Amino acid sequence: MEEEYEEGFEKEKRIGKQKTKKQERKIFKDVFDKRSLDALFNLSKKGFFDELEAIIKKGKESNVFLASSKQKKFAVKIYKIETSTFRSISKYISHDKRFSKIRKNKKDIIYEWTKKEFRNLKRCYERGAKVPKPFGFERNVLVMEFLGKNNTAFPMLRDVQLTKKEIKRVYEMVLREYGKMLFRAGLVHADFSEYNLLYDKAGKKIWVIDLSHALGLNYQNIKSFYERDLEKISVFFTKKGLKLEIEDVKSRLRKLENDLKK
Ligand SMILES: Nc1ncnc2c1ncn2[C@@H]1O[C@H](COP(=O)(O)OP(=O)(O)O)[C@@H](O)[C@H]1O
Ligand SMILES: [Mg+2]
Repeated sequence: MEEEYEEGFEKEKRIGKQKTKKQERKIFKDVFDKRSLDALFNLSKKGFFDELEAIIKKGKESNVFLASSKQKKFAVKIYKIETSTFRSISKYISHDKRFSKIRKNKKDIIYEWTKKEFRNLKRCYERGAKVPKPFGFERNVLVMEFLGKNNTAFPMLRDVQLTKKEIKRVYEMVLREYGKMLFRAGLVHADFSEYNLLYDKAGKKIWVIDLSHALGLNYQNIKSFYERDLEKISVFFTKKGLKLEIEDVKSRLRKLENDLKK
């Protein structure tokens, strides 16, 4: 482990600035295994970014970093290979026809999971949904557009204070984005909530992230995932004062369908 770390650390130094502070060393030791470092190194060689600047969010299944090149910023999501919720991931993929042939090996499943998020993002991005533009991936590392300003990521919708007027607007924006994914890209997000929506208050824009769970409409149980997403929307906006039943959300979404399919 120590050896792996030291080797990894050497590589990290080549990827970015020489980090010397003890604390930073600890972060790298905690979050990068050798496989992730190799993938990071290869992605940086491909020219996406040349420096990892800061950690945006440390999570149970992934860590997200701010990375940069001379020209621009990126968000780099690194899926943890040793993840405790591995079983639930495997459950999602094994029922998805697009991923039926993969070997049920932990590392490979995480790699498939990364590829899946990349593809889902691409599908949605190409159809005009407000998701981060995906740039590339390798193994368990995904490189995408950084959503934020001045090196600070936009906050999750759950952490934003909204005025009454804003709530109504944001609800409409959220449904439009959900509708774009559904009607244009043929995907159900399947983990849709105020945690996976980022809000740019100044620009008045809603962004959808975390598409790793998203499923195609032919998935056998798709309706229950769809219902759960809409339920989350209605509960969140009801808490914010909009008094919505799931049926209200459904009918609003149906009304948007023709408009969004154009
Ligand atoms: N493209 C991005 N730009 C800026 N911040 C991001 C981006 N993607 C993710 N994040 C940040 O990282 C957090 C975790 O990302 P997410 O994709 O939701 O992963 P997880 O599976 O860990 O929930 C988000 O809540 C957000 O704060
Ligand atoms: Mg998330």
